[in-house]
Order: sequence, then C-alpha cells, then structure tokens
Amino acid sequence: MNQQLNHERELIVLLDFGAQYSQLIARRVRSLNVYCEIMPHNADIEKIKAQKPKGIILSGGPASVLDEGAPRCDKGVFNLGVPVLGICYGMQLTAQTLGGTVESPQEREYGRVMINLSAHPLFEGMASDNTVWMSHTLQVVKAPQGFVSVAGTPHCPWGGMANDQKRIYGIQFHPEVTHTPQGMMIFDNFLRLCGCQRTWKMASYIEEACALIREQVGDKSVLLGLSGGVDSAVAASLLYKAVGEQLTCVFVDHGLLRKNEREEVEAVFRPMLKEKLLVMDARERFLDKLAGVVEPEQKRKIIGKEFVECFRDMALQSGKLDFLAQGTIYPDVIESGVGSSAAVIKSHHNVGGLPKDLPFCGVVEPLRYLFKDEVRKLGEELDLPHEMVWRQPFPGPGLAIRIIGDITEEKLQIVRDSDLILRQEIAKNNLTDKASQYFTVLTGLRSVGVMGDERSYDYTVAIRVVNTDDFMTADWVRMPYEVMDIISRRIVNEVRHVNRVVYDVTSKPPASIEWE
Ligand code: XMP
Repeated sequence: MNQQLNHERELIVLLDFGAQYSQLIARRVRSLNVYCEIMPHNADIEKIKAQKPKGIILSGGPASVLDEGAPRCDKGVFNLGVPVLGICYGMQLTAQTLGGTVESPQEREYGRVMINLSAHPLFEGMASDNTVWMSHTLQVVKAPQGFVSVAGTPHCPWGGMANDQKRIYGIQFHPEVTHTPQGMMIFDNFLRLCGCQRTWKMASYIEEACALIREQVGDKSVLLGLSGGVDSAVAASLLYKAVGEQLTCVFVDHGLLRKNEREEVEAVFRPMLKEKLLVMDARERFLDKLAGVVEPEQKRKIIGKEFVECFRDMALQSGKLDFLAQGTIYPDVIESGVGSSAAVIKSHHNVGGLPKDLPFCGVVEPLRYLFKDEVRKLGEELDLPHEMVWRQPFPGPGLAIRIIGDITEEKLQIVRDSDLILRQEIAKNNLTDKASQYFTVLTGLRSVGVMGDERSYDYTVAIRVVNTDDFMTADWVRMPYEVMDIISRRIVNEVRHVNRVVYDVTSKPPASIEWE
C-alpha cells in the first residue's frame, strides 16, 4: 500500500531530525487517538500541505543548529496556520529560523531536571514545579520576536517558549520519554491546541486499509508468505478481510519450528483460506542442506537461501503472481531510512529475503504505517487468537540457532520438547508478563549423570529467559526457584537424552539473547 492513508482523518506530521525518540513521539500521539506520520525533516512543503495536518511536531536530533549543514525544514512550516511544537533540536531550530539566538550554555543540563512551568495552555493540568528529562548541548538564549518564556530552570531560562498568536511552541526537554512523568499531558494539551477531535481508532484503520487494498489490487491475486509470526498473521487476516478469495498464503515448514507451530497456523488459517493456504513440507530439504553444518552464520545463510527457493517454488506452483504482500511494519520502513532522516540502521528484509526474479506487478504492505503494539491491537480487533497476537518473537532461522553444533532430527526433538515444557510452566505460573522471550538451548555439551542406578552420559539443556523493551539490551529474569525446579525436573524426566539443565544468568550485552 504505497499511497498515503485517507486524508479526511486528523493527522499530525512529525518532522524527523534524526532523534532516537522520534518513533516514541509518534506512538504517544497515536495513543491519544490522533494519527501521526513521521516525515523526513526536509519534506517538501507542498507534500506536507497536501496531508492537511492539524499540527506539526519538530523532533529532537543529534545535530547542532549552529553547523552550516545542520538539517532544517522548509520555513513555510511556520506559516501553515496550524500549531507547531518544536522539541529540543526542534525548538532550537524554530528559534533560529524565526530570528532568535541559540548558543552553547556555560553549564550543560543532562538527565532529570526540575523545571518551572508557567500557567500556559500547553502545560494545563501540570504541576508548576515539574520534573523533566533534558539532553542538549545548545539552548535558546534569545527567543524570536513575539515569543515569551513559558518554562525555565536556573541554567536554562528558555526551557520553553510560546507565541500564542501564531500558535508556535517550543520545549527544550523531552516530553516523550518516561523520565518526564507528566510528558503525555503536553501531547494531550498540544492536540487540544490543534483542535483535534481524536477519532483515530484501530477499527477505522481497518476500514481505511481495506478500502486502500481493494483500490490497489482491483480484481488481481495477492500472494503472502505466512511465517506464523504476528506481522504476517495480522497481514493475512487484514488482506483476507479486504480481498477474500483473491488471497493465497504460503507457509513453508522448514522443520525448525517449535512444537505444534505448523498445526496452530493451519488451525487459524485453514478455515479462512481453505485450499488457498499452501503448506510446503520442506523439512527434509532443510535438514539435508544443514547436515554437518556447525557455524552459526553459515546456518543462517543456508536457511535464508533455501527459504527463498521454497517460496519461489510455491509461488510459481500457485500461479498467483500479480501482487506480493509483505508484513512490513512502520519501524522496518523507518529503519530502512525511507521515512526519516535518521541514519540507515539496517536494510529491512523479511525472513530469508524474497525472490527478486518473480514477475510480481506490485507489492502490498498493509501494515506499513503501524507500530508493533498497533499491529497487535489490530490482530485483536481482527479476532486472531490471543496466543498468536501476543506470541514472543521467534528468529527466522528457528531452532537451528538454538542447537549448538550440527543439527539432527533427534536434537530438534530435544529442543522442541524442552521448549514446550518451558512455555507451559511459564504460562501456568503466570510469568508470561515478566519475560519478553524464553526458550531452551541444546548446548553442545554432554556430561555424566545418574539415572536410576545407571550411569548416563547425555545432553545439557540451557534455559534462557530474558526481559527487554527493545531487544537491543536485555536482562535475565530472576525466576522463582520453585518454578525453575519444576522445569528442570520435567525436562530431565520427560525429554529423552537430557540429564542436566542449566539456567543462563547473563545479560545482553555482553551475551546476545540467542546462543548463536
Ligand atoms: P540477539 O540474539 O541478537 O537477538 O540478542 C535479538 C532478537 O533478535 C532475534 N534474532 C533473530 N531474528 N533472524 C531473526 O529473524 C535471526 O537471524 C535472528 N537472530 C536473533 C532474537 O530471537 C531476539 O528476539
């Protein structure tokens, strides 16, 4: 879906100056029921106008407005007649663009700071002495004509500025982070100043998205790769709602899935798609290719390549080669550097990539404008099962990177069975909210044990349970000993060839979440 969404609904445009928190700002605004779209800082003014925004937010950013090449926005942004809120760099740029002065302060402020807020509509309902999060190397020392100071600290008298006549505002601190406890109230107040009715809801997104998909696809066919993950499952459900039988889904069972995963996908999508759900049993194909391979990156490469080939075979076999659908979500788009000025962090590609040589006439990406939590909300709205919507992340190469050393069917069985026990006990003991990701690893280690009266020489299974917000860093979860005890006992009793269970107590960094 490459067109923008419906212009009738309220929109806040966020111009992105490369802040690490830009996505957070957009999410905060959307959580207040106003759609927010991130655009690059240098977006064409006509493009911005065409969106008919109710307000503009200028994000923070790592650059210095004093540098010649500093990122700027079109000056016309300040003459659109809609409220503008500059945050940190955005405030400094506003001040500089409109004739104020920005300098490097004698004393820098970083972290939690006490600030005095005026009785201004932007701060309505907030305590006048308030805690906010500051992180800046420059600050406004003289505001442009027509602006008054509405917030300040002893070191930063222009902690906030406002020109009420023009409805242009700036704040030096970051309302989007949780370290500014009343930050949401600022967004709430800003949306009121923009005159927003707050009508954006997931249900209206479904209607809009379905209409756009129908418009794009017409009476052509759509082919989607289902992985069992949240994004592709929600995309399938939405596409089916939009185009019904024109949708065909391909599910490749590479044999590296967790227990019952293929059955769960079939249980949800078979009644919907009937013969249009194509399941490929590629277990042998993958096992053959992986035989004897030990090196993790090589495993990943083989799996990625084989996956593409399986998908190609199925696509050609289906003959449905009009539109290719993908479960791309907003952070993927932003991380690829399309929607923002932030540096390219990684080029987005779906698990294993997709065949480039298939003659599709276009790509449909119905989740392109949604954050992960919004995708889950959409999944719930579309009545997908709770377990599928709230499924923990599972790596594309699957269990292959949870078996240290070479992969055999016997080893896969051990990881599958032990993983199921871990998942069952975590659910049974109400620990799912405490852990972002949890799984077992078949270590390459074998050790001596006693089973009955017999000496055993069998595998060691490691348990990994971590908590994380962003999967960039993670902490190991302090599981109750009683639960660890049950899990350990069940694994050694119920899973053949395991005589020892260990618990991974390493954070990320230095360890990664997966073992390979
Ligand atoms: P690490 O192990 O890098 O994992 O700390 C961070 C998150 O990424 C997942 N992960 C992968 N996902 N393909 C994927 O699709 C991969 O090759 C891959 N490796 C790690 C991991 O499960 C965790 O959620």
